[in-house]
Amino acid sequence: MNELIQILPKAELHMHIEGSLEPELMFKLAKRNGIKLPDASVDELRAKYNFNNLQEFLDIYYQGCAVLQTEQDFYDLAWAYLENAKQDNVVHTEIFYDPQSHTDRGIPFETTINGLHRAFTDAQQQLGISFHIIACFLRHLPEQDAIDIYPEIYKHKDKIYGIGLDSSELGHPPEKYKRVFAQAKKDGFKVVAHAGEEGPADYVKQAIELLDVDRIDHGNHCLDDDILTAHIAKQGLALTVCPLSNLKLRVVKDLKDHPIKTMLKKGLMATINSDDPAYFGGYINENFMHLNDAVGLTENEIFTLVENSFKASFLPDDIKKIHLQALHSVW
Ligand code: ADE
Ligand code: ZN
Repeated sequence: MNELIQILPKAELHMHIEGSLEPELMFKLAKRNGIKLPDASVDELRAKYNFNNLQEFLDIYYQGCAVLQTEQDFYDLAWAYLENAKQDNVVHTEIFYDPQSHTDRGIPFETTINGLHRAFTDAQQQLGISFHIIACFLRHLPEQDAIDIYPEIYKHKDKIYGIGLDSSELGHPPEKYKRVFAQAKKDGFKVVAHAGEEGPADYVKQAIELLDVDRIDHGNHCLDDDILTAHIAKQGLALTVCPLSNLKLRVVKDLKDHPIKTMLKKGLMATINSDDPAYFGGYINENFMHLNDAVGLTENEIFTLVENSFKASFLPDDIKKIHLQALHSVW
């Protein structure tokens, strides 16, 4: 089965580029930028990657961002992810990044987007991986902060394809962002939101009804509401599911309890993704492999999950068709 997972070309739709910052690269960038990290070594830092919930992870994740200072740092971060993606046979990726976690540290918006965009453009030519960049608002910050940074995002519409919503979910319902999301939709951005990771089914409902999302990130808790689940399935609205993240952030107690099979049985367009691979112990193929080890996926289920990754992508229909044909021929 692992060989099958490896050889299938796939798209990744839920990956935070800051969450692909491996400790080794973090230390290298810290040295390059003269920054002293709180931990003395890679091992000491990795030993902290044991989380009881989303917030404990986010505290460490934002701390790690401090080493990202220059355009080249953002380029190197993206390039390291892309090399892993290439190994996993990812041919298209739609990545998240958190502009506010950099601009709030005094890093100019241009530095972040130019470094990332240059790396992804080079990868398209050199590694054959196409991409879309999705800029996320940090939902733990005031709505006004999102409204204030939106013009910067809009200025870079040639490089940014979509708008997302991430960070601490509980206490920050999608409703808080309905104004800025309405503007982004009007301006032609695709919009997505993390919902139902730690938050309740009602947050998933709000993301659909109030933000008019084109995809739901995570979405696990929609399963608590049968009517909502049936609605999402009927609409063909995709969920970007992240198994190792769900395990490490204790959304599931054990990977054996992961609801992926239930999601597929209920007709949900689920996809498999890595979320923050440097922190959760695996890139996309490892997510497939660990999930398969835990719940025993059938070959058809693996195929459906990979097929869904292209169907749920923001690629134009003609390009989707080419990827789906290539997938079928490998299959
Ligand atoms: N930012 C990075 N990873 C995240 C996650 N799993 N949930 C919410 N915000 C995030
Ligand atoms: Zn995420």
